Amino acid sequence: MPITLTLTRPDDWHLHLRDGELLRRVVHDSARRFARAIIMPNLPVPVTTTELARHYRERILAAVPAECDFQPLMTLYLTDETSPAEIAAAQASGIIQGVKWYPAGATTNSQFGVSDVTRCHPALAAMESLGMPLLIHAETTDSRVDVFDCEAVFLDRQLVPVLRRFPGLRVVIEHVTTAQAVQFVRDASPHVGATITVHHLLLNRNALFEGGLRPHHYCRPVLKREQHRQAVLEAAISGHPRFFAGTDSAPHLRRDKESACGCAGIYTAHAALELYAEVFEQGSALERLEGFVSFHGPDFYGLPRNSTQITLEKEPWIVPNSILVGDDHLIPFRAGETVQWRLVD
Ligand code: DOR
Ligand code: ZN
Repeated sequence: MPITLTLTRPDDWHLHLRDGELLRRVVHDSARRFARAIIMPNLPVPVTTTELARHYRERILAAVPAECDFQPLMTLYLTDETSPAEIAAAQASGIIQGVKWYPAGATTNSQFGVSDVTRCHPALAAMESLGMPLLIHAETTDSRVDVFDCEAVFLDRQLVPVLRRFPGLRVVIEHVTTAQAVQFVRDASPHVGATITVHHLLLNRNALFEGGLRPHHYCRPVLKREQHRQAVLEAAISGHPRFFAGTDSAPHLRRDKESACGCAGIYTAHAALELYAEVFEQGSALERLEGFVSFHGPDFYGLPRNSTQITLEKEPWIVPNSILVGDDHLIPFRAGETVQWRLVD
């Protein structure tokens, strides 16, 4: 009999589901594993209003297989023009759990994002007073900054002044990748938390160049050197309540990844929970996996913990080489390779 692990059903606190055919193809992978997910708003037409979020939520729910009970937690895309009234409407809607700050130009579909955060001060003041979390893609877009330093520089130059001005603002630093970001969260007030992806726990930047250029390991923030991976891993397995799982699973079609100017994003939803289990087992911390994937996130967001359970078994399986989407494919993380834990349906 394989070893089994039963957990309170987890949530994914950072997920890209896209839209249309891609949405219909990927949502099932998340919905099988996670009860809820924070849905990122960076569609080609960004989700800048509660009205757009409501419609996107309906498209997601329509794509969820009938046997799954999955709740999308919607977010708004912050722009220089986002008004306090829009924030109030988002809060009143009951379907929006956060507002995402993409520095303009930082990543996929971020060109409508924030160009000057001082222009967002009225919106941030409204968020602070209403308790609406600010979710941050914490990378500077200053092209003079080395790509591997973009996260640390953003924290100093952009986030510190924002937190000084809005000390009651609830903030999630998304997908932390550096020792500096981990330390920042540890030193910050209880209003500041962070998500951690499974790919940043498993890979360091060597994975980008292993035997040649590896576009399927390219994401933003880009993978970092081993000492940073170690710092992020320690934070994840430490049991610290302000670090929690957010996959940043970010599907792109193969032709958009294997390109002269390839898109950033790694698709992990097909095995995300299983891979987090692998990480925690390697770190001799399996007993702290449930806190990281199932408790810390809802506690931070002020939402109830899930009441149902999910079971994994220690039974290796091989990830498919690709997933058909229309006339192209999606290349999943670990394509053609082994994952140690398997979901028991
Ligand atoms: O690698 C990434 N892909 N990082 C992001 O911040 C966005 C995401 C996407 O939407 O493709
Ligand atoms: Zn993301």
